[in-house]
Amino acid sequence: MAKEKTTVFFCKECGYESPKWSGFCPACHTANSMVEAPKEKAPGFSRISGGQRRPVPVRLEEIPQEAQDRYDTGIEELNRVLGGGLLPGSLILTGGDPGIGKSTLLLQVCRNLAAAGQKVLYVSGEESLRQLKLRADRLGRFSGDISFLCETDLDQVVRILQEEKPQVAVIDSIQTMQSAQTASAPGSVSQVRECTNILLNTAKGCNIAVFIVGHVTKDGAVAGPKLLEHMVDTVLYFEGDRHAAYRLLRSVKNRFGASGEIGVFEMRSDGLKEIPNPSAYMLSGRPENASGSAITCVMEGTRPLLLEVQALVTRSNYGLGRRTSAGADYNRVNLLLAVLEKHLNMALADCDAFVNVTGGLRINDPSLDLAIILALYSSYRNLPVDPDTMVFGEIGLAGEVRSVPLAKERVQEAARLGFTTCVLPKSSLTSDVKARGIRLIGVGTIAEAVSILS
Ligand code: TYD
Ligand code: MG
Repeated sequence: MAKEKTTVFFCKECGYESPKWSGFCPACHTANSMVEAPKEKAPGFSRISGGQRRPVPVRLEEIPQEAQDRYDTGIEELNRVLGGGLLPGSLILTGGDPGIGKSTLLLQVCRNLAAAGQKVLYVSGEESLRQLKLRADRLGRFSGDISFLCETDLDQVVRILQEEKPQVAVIDSIQTMQSAQTASAPGSVSQVRECTNILLNTAKGCNIAVFIVGHVTKDGAVAGPKLLEHMVDTVLYFEGDRHAAYRLLRSVKNRFGASGEIGVFEMRSDGLKEIPNPSAYMLSGRPENASGSAITCVMEGTRPLLLEVQALVTRSNYGLGRRTSAGADYNRVNLLLAVLEKHLNMALADCDAFVNVTGGLRINDPSLDLAIILALYSSYRNLPVDPDTMVFGEIGLAGEVRSVPLAKERVQEAARLGFTTCVLPKSSLTSDVKARGIRLIGVGTIAEAVSILS
């Protein structure tokens, strides 16, 4: 039997498209508005024929420029991560481990937006109104037009959004929402996708900026994995060690700004506080003149961040050396140990080596290599690195120090925090890489780099 062609249904009122018919539109809830789309008319694959809609390509100049005002979230770090504030009608996915502070951050955002005159709706499918109130009480006074709703039925939530027309809404969390459109269980992949799709249509249709909270699975993806990321405008990840006080908000996708941007926060008893100067925060309390410690600068998005790398190299009691690494890639640390062994004749086979990037950050930037090398060497020889020296550079297998991008930004960040010397790859040492009050030492090999210690 020949396979029947699939039909498409779409809503006469709002244009919502669905593969199956329903008595009311899942997006705008108008009754009996779903009609079967004639093949030629079906949105998405319209064909040109006499009297039909004819799409016309336009030139860039012909597109009207809309000066979109962004809302100020009242949190500078978040504004920056969003690309300069919250854009009306945008859909933002906020992911992160449970308990990391997603609800707290969004509740603070709602509070600020309401105080600034925006109409806000906070929908929670996870907590009761009493629990929300307890949290709100910790954050301080709330004022303005903000209301709360405990609901897991997304169709009801969408109806309320359309009636109330808030400017900003929070859906906490997408895994708890369910819509009559799909029969599958809440939290399942198809349910999460369908709910996000409905919210996307509502956000665009009613020009509501919607934050969606998404929990992260064990392997670090927003549950219903990457599948939501392409649907939304912005994806933010909240990360950090649950037991350390600071939190990192990172944009991994942003249609309205740079991605990879980070904001740094600290969790206090009265909510999240932004840390405008994260480098100083990360370096606070570092030991002075201790061996096995080196300061480096990594780039997180467009933002330079100074960090301390610590290493401890000790004789092993069991013959075969143990290696551990926290914050830096384990295999990378092993590779760097092998480079040290080969090119500086260090006997490391029977040594334990521990490497730690302080602050609990996980760094993938290869410019971290030189600091790991120096920290390991410093610990092995028991020679401290000068506390006013910052180092960065990638290490190659031949023991060469290779250039890394954005050297100027790194040097300037170090100068800003009062460092007086910077050891960097020779090839990164171009004429524009300079800053006041900082001496630059270009090195080509790890042997040259470690010579600054003796
Ligand atoms: P929460 O925002 O509930 O996390 P998520 O929504 O990502 O699951 O944050 C919960 C944690 O934050 C919890 O362990 C308590 C802590 N917390 C504070 O330390 N200070 C505060 O002011 C608040 C509201 C929470
Ligand atoms: Mg929560």
